[in-house]
Amino acid sequence: MRIDVLTLFPEMFEGPFGRSIVGRAAAAGVVELRVHNFRDHAADRHRTVDDAPFGGGPGMVLKPEPVFAAVESLRASGQRGPLVYLSPKGRSFTQAVAREMAGQAGFILLCGRYEGLDQRVVDHLVDEEISIGDYVLSGGEPAAAVVVDAVVRLLPGALGDDASPDEESFSDGLLEYPHYTRPAEFRGWAVPEVLLSGNHEAIRRWRREQALALTQTRRPDLTRGQEHTGGTR
Ligand code: ADE
Repeated sequence: MRIDVLTLFPEMFEGPFGRSIVGRAAAAGVVELRVHNFRDHAADRHRTVDDAPFGGGPGMVLKPEPVFAAVESLRASGQRGPLVYLSPKGRSFTQAVAREMAGQAGFILLCGRYEGLDQRVVDHLVDEEISIGDYVLSGGEPAAAVVVDAVVRLLPGALGDDASPDEESFSDGLLEYPHYTRPAEFRGWAVPEVLLSGNHEAIRRWRREQALALTQTRRPDLTRGQEHTGGTR
């Protein structure tokens, strides 16, 4: 998969893209991650990327020319995937959307700044708007890092050999069951007996019950259609 990110602050991605699962996946060639500064595509000597809004009002608006030029250069380099604009006005980003994006050969993430982006970019260049939640960030960069993390960890090979995203929260529509490790007793708090039993069927049932109970308490909106049984995953 190839992911291109367009931003005015490429250095914001050094941490999130350089470490952990995303960093390792990039190093292993599971994903090709490229971060570009669309200021490099500004046409004038001062590399201007923003201007005052027509009609007045506070703040600055990102100009269309550098964004169009940056996307056109990515198209010329072979990136055919959708152009996704991170915006609070977008479709809600969920595990289902992450899975959908993980099935694509690639995509471009466009990060906005300042008061906004010239609407002609949204109307004539952007394929989709995605929001990571009902709050306003100062720019799309943290949202892009969230999308990249959630998508890349779903790619084959990203989590290493024995790990699988199949049992995590949301993968089967439920929040994930609790985990424990050694010691079996810590400060008087014991690990649930069943996990020490070696009875894999009982453990599977316990985990399923925990996941259902947790989801019913915390996120009843997710449990529609799920029966409270030890049934199939
Ligand atoms: N940019 C600013 N706020 C955002 C949000 N909630 N989701 C995605 N991009 C954003």
